[in-house]
Amino acid sequence: MIHMIKINGGKATFCSRYVKTYKYMLERDMGYPIIPSPFTSFNGVMADCSCGARCCSSCCWRVRPCDQWLWHGKYDVAVIGGKLYALGEGDLPYEIKVTSDGDITTLGRRDFHSAAAEEFLSMTAHPKIDPETGEAFAFNYHISPPLIKKYAKDESEMWWVDVPGFNISHAVNAWEEDDGDTLVVVAANLLLVEQSLEKFDLAEMKMEEIRISVKNKEVLLRRQLSTRVLNLPAIHPAYVGKKNRYAYATRVIPPVINVGLVKVDLSLYSDDYHDCVVASRRYGPDCTDNEPFFVPREPNDLDADEDDGFVVVYVHDENTQESKFLVMDAKSPTLEIVAAVKLPGRVPTAFHGLFVSESHLSKLS
Ligand SMILES: [Fe+2]
Repeated sequence: MIHMIKINGGKATFCSRYVKTYKYMLERDMGYPIIPSPFTSFNGVMADCSCGARCCSSCCWRVRPCDQWLWHGKYDVAVIGGKLYALGEGDLPYEIKVTSDGDITTLGRRDFHSAAAEEFLSMTAHPKIDPETGEAFAFNYHISPPLIKKYAKDESEMWWVDVPGFNISHAVNAWEEDDGDTLVVVAANLLLVEQSLEKFDLAEMKMEEIRISVKNKEVLLRRQLSTRVLNLPAIHPAYVGKKNRYAYATRVIPPVINVGLVKVDLSLYSDDYHDCVVASRRYGPDCTDNEPFFVPREPNDLDADEDDGFVVVYVHDENTQESKFLVMDAKSPTLEIVAAVKLPGRVPTAFHGLFVSESHLSKLS
């Protein structure tokens, strides 16, 4: 399901709509759920069956269309090539549209007319969009040989660097330095990955910076940027692929509860300074959130401070079963809440999101 809040002229309207995925349509026609969802039904026999079936479909390349039966759906929303898509992990993107009256409709499953249609049966929910060229960089992954490309024609042009224990959960950003000789990657590292697969409650993500020598294909430096468990990071969208200073991330406490927001200054790390968190906010007891999104105050002002803007996020109170949409001042040391909208429906937590300005939305086809 996609949840959307539209703010215009001081008024907010809210809309929640299911994405019409293969699984959704199948179960709607049957009248009851038959396929367990990988995360919401993560434990138990049905979840084990789901996991087993997904592994089988990944092993048997030729039956990979089974994937589309097994994924409920939608973790993220992205603008790719001037169109709006709902993204899962084990399925292709579904093109969606925001109508003039504020509704969301599903236009259909898209393979982008891929020549390698046999191989392109799923796509990550975590593509990166170059803010200057508009190019979308995406990948898919499973237990058969990888297909990760930038401009490479095939995997023979790909090279690997061993970073033991570094399992990227969500990337913060990556950029080149030293005229391309050094590659810097900042990401939430999923520690204890084996235990996390057995029991998701044990998932523990720490933000790390890795510096890689492109010439020698080796790690030059690796450091943890905070002692806290952080996930679902966001940055100023204009800095994707460029050196940046600030990240905003959800603070997580066991068992995987998103209790608040932190602001991380990536430039702060030194021999004496191992926790780069410079601002934080807790939402209150029983309140959990989704992925934050940074919205610049003046998107076209290239001279503005990187943190001059707002962090927006959906928050849900498990105790009262109320959801809110919060707007926070990104420069404030307390991430002060400057606006809040009480929502008429529940927005579940721990999912990704996207902010699109009305002018940008109107240009989407
Ligand atoms: Fe994700």
